[in-house]
Amino acid sequence: MNLKFISTFLCFVLLHSSKTFGDHFTNQSDLETYIIHLEFHDQVLSSSKDLHLWHQSFLPTNSNHSSRILYSYRHVFNGFAAMLSSDEVREMEKKPGFVSARPQRIFQMHTTHSPSFLGLHQNVGLWNASNSGKGVIIGLLDTGIDPQHPSFNDNGMPNPPLKWKGKCEFNVTTYCNKKLIGARNFADGATSPSDEAGHGTHTSSTAAGNFVDGANFFGNANGTAVGIAPRAHVAMYKVCYGYNCEEYRMIAGFDAAIGDGVDVISVSIGFEQYRPPLYDDTIAIGAYRAMEKGIFVSCSAGNSGPGSGTVANGAPWILTVGASTTDRKISAVAVLGNGAEYEGESAFQPTNFSRKLLPLVNGEDCESLFSSLKGKIVLCDTSGYTSRNEKGENVKKVDGAGMILMNEKYRGSTTFSEYDAVPTTQVSYKDGQEIIHYMKSTSTPVAMITFKGTKIGDKHAPTVAYFSSRGPFVKSQGILKPDIIGPGVNILAAWPTPIEGETTSASSTSSSTFNILSGTSMSCPHLAGVAALLKSAHPDWSPAAIKSAIMTTADLVNLGKNLIQDETLEPADLLTIGSGHVNPSRANDPGLIYDIQPEDYIPYLCGLNYTDDQVSSIVNKKIYCTSRIPQSELNYPSFSIPKKSSAQTYTRTVTNVGEPISAYKVKVFGLKGVEVTVNPIILKFTALNQKASFNVTVKSLDLTGHSQGYIVWSSDRYSVRSPIDVYPHISVI
Ligand SMILES: *[C@@H]1O[C@H](CO)[C@@H](O)[C@H](O)[C@H]1NC(C)=O
Ligand SMILES: *[C@@H]1O[C@H](CO)[C@@H](O)[C@H](O)[C@H]1NC(C)=O
Ligand SMILES: *[C@@H]1O[C@H](CO)[C@@H](O)[C@H](O)[C@H]1NC(C)=O
Ligand SMILES: *[C@@H]1O[C@H](CO)[C@@H](O)[C@H](O)[C@H]1NC(C)=O
Ligand SMILES: *[C@@H]1O[C@H](CO)[C@@H](O)[C@H](O)[C@H]1NC(C)=O
Ligand SMILES: *[C@@H]1O[C@H](CO)[C@@H](O)[C@H](O)[C@H]1NC(C)=O
Ligand SMILES: *[C@@H]1O[C@H](CO)[C@@H](O)[C@H](O)[C@H]1NC(C)=O
Ligand SMILES: *[C@@H]1O[C@H](CO)[C@@H](O)[C@H](O)[C@H]1NC(C)=O
Repeated sequence: MNLKFISTFLCFVLLHSSKTFGDHFTNQSDLETYIIHLEFHDQVLSSSKDLHLWHQSFLPTNSNHSSRILYSYRHVFNGFAAMLSSDEVREMEKKPGFVSARPQRIFQMHTTHSPSFLGLHQNVGLWNASNSGKGVIIGLLDTGIDPQHPSFNDNGMPNPPLKWKGKCEFNVTTYCNKKLIGARNFADGATSPSDEAGHGTHTSSTAAGNFVDGANFFGNANGTAVGIAPRAHVAMYKVCYGYNCEEYRMIAGFDAAIGDGVDVISVSIGFEQYRPPLYDDTIAIGAYRAMEKGIFVSCSAGNSGPGSGTVANGAPWILTVGASTTDRKISAVAVLGNGAEYEGESAFQPTNFSRKLLPLVNGEDCESLFSSLKGKIVLCDTSGYTSRNEKGENVKKVDGAGMILMNEKYRGSTTFSEYDAVPTTQVSYKDGQEIIHYMKSTSTPVAMITFKGTKIGDKHAPTVAYFSSRGPFVKSQGILKPDIIGPGVNILAAWPTPIEGETTSASSTSSSTFNILSGTSMSCPHLAGVAALLKSAHPDWSPAAIKSAIMTTADLVNLGKNLIQDETLEPADLLTIGSGHVNPSRANDPGLIYDIQPEDYIPYLCGLNYTDDQVSSIVNKKIYCTSRIPQSELNYPSFSIPKKSSAQTYTRTVTNVGEPISAYKVKVFGLKGVEVTVNPIILKFTALNQKASFNVTVKSLDLTGHSQGYIVWSSDRYSVRSPIDVYPHISVI
């Protein structure tokens, strides 16, 4: 039984492949996987065979070409991946058309109550307006998929659209159907697109799973499981085997998804620590190529929070998604001898647990418990190297009756619903401190745990999870990141294998094909699903328009009508929530949108002071930087502006998608220590799709700290909000 918090976010290591190939001329152990970029190709190579032959011409003549070339790229850039020695790469550099070669890097990765939490209900509102995402294809780059899971049944699904060119690489062709229309395997060690890790099955069902009644996790969170876009099609690109995601396979996944004709790409994968510049960021480059083709790309922001500057996947053409809670809790309450009660969480809900107060002892990190703690409740903290499950096992080994697991400070209020080895509740840092205080106040501390089952309606929801990565995006601080937050804590979704667990609870079943996971890996496919709904409702909207609609309509308050909080239960700042929490119904009718055309990103990239070649490698054609704009000048739906005492002016252009004849008036909120003027202060429209521009002039009176606030354009019917972060002008790199 292991229900891990998925910190499937990439680590950076070089691959040293130990594969053996039938190549007699080179010492195989000297070969590494290289990614080779070639010059742009003006004459379109008529077939992928010609392309492949041209790529082969770069290999050493004495080598076995078919064993060396791993993948020929067609869409993401002109180039290929191959097994080569460093000597061979040096030879290759002399050939005409060669641009660069480098060893690949390795990525490791980063319900279904959430649709109703997001205000999606059958036959009304956005599900009605979008036909639940009918006709839209969501491609996921992930660990594979379990094709036989009930979430991928095709009841009520139409045929795939005619443009679809994808393949089903399962050996049983009936594994694909009208729901799961494509499944391809690019992963090392795997022979099919099936899912050994479970991650890809979970994310796919979150984005577009079909309705499954009676889904639950050990009897908890019981209900109808369904994805955000239940009528959208799913295409899986398996780029990771287990949690090992090789870079060249990621590029291959993007290449195939773009060529196959998906509409939305969801990538719950990224680097954990390493933040490459955009021209060296494989996910950013793949996403750029997708965006050019009108494909919307949603990516996880990373699980490296709550530290500043930890956000990943921050290119401005990507929707970067942070994670927050939903209003569902699987409740387990710690009750102390002094009568105090602290509500925590556990998905193990025994019905026969002692209703008497038991002695309470402090086991600290609970990594090494030796003497018998028979019949006692053990207070453990989340520190150290052992998982929650291992701590529970340790308590069990010394005959402990139960465990109160308290958060370390940085985890604040974020708790997980996991299936535990002993009766357990996980409580917040603050509650844990009070429990310790109580223990110090008495010579005979006692406690019990009462299990309250699944509860809906937590007024603190959404609360940002501690692990959700935070801005600024260090490689382009002039773009506010993350863009949005969405459900990513204790998400119930499909799982490929039955989960074996103890049957201690009368209500629990011994197996489950649903699992509860937490991570920005879980919030990303929620937003991919929302994008699919919007694409279906507004087929003419560009990826940037969809993104703008999601961002300018986001929620700033929680269910209790207070400002959305972070894990410390203080109001979350803009570097934590970006534009706020996704509100799909409002996003369907945003009034105005901030659109961006693919070519608009070129002066932005030039303005990052990248060389012509660096910009060219992102844009995939020869670029000479003739015009440069400051980052903050990109027509983005939010603002991130460096503090300067002199006035800076940025221009934005909005497009009317609301009422043809309408007028919007501007209001500025917050922004302490900053003088903001907007000109003009009224925007008038007489037709749909009409554009209007305005200038925002910012002058900072106080150069220290962040000043945050909003610019809101309001008409009788709409309110279009852009967050502004004016940041102290210090280098964060
Ligand atoms: C070349 O490599 C391919 C694929 O690994 C293999 O099937 C073939 O037998 C090899 N040919 C030679 C001559 O070693
Ligand atoms: C191949 O290289 C490895 C390490 O570089 C070395 O240990 C091994 O002896 C070499 N094998 C041959 C056949 O040269
Ligand atoms: C559902 O959408 C159709 C148009 O697509 C609209 O006419 C109808 O009023 C909507 N129904 C509800 C209940 O929103
Ligand atoms: C299909 O592939 C799986 C491995 O992915 C294998 O276990 C199974 O035997 C194969 N079935 C057939 C019919 O080849
Ligand atoms: C889940 O709910 C359904 C109907 O709402 C019910 O029939 C079923 O017994 C419940 N399952 C569990 C495990 O509680
Ligand atoms: C609760 O029931 C389970 C199995 O039915 C049993 O193993 C366990 O010992 C019981 N716990 C208590 C505290 O009675
Ligand atoms: C690019 O270079 C210009 C001129 O040196 C400088 O003013 C600007 O701040 C640089 N931009 C970035 C993003 O580093
Ligand atoms: C906005 O600013 C630009 C240059 O900074 C200027 O050319 C333009 O006239 C201004 N527009 C308005 C409406 O103030």
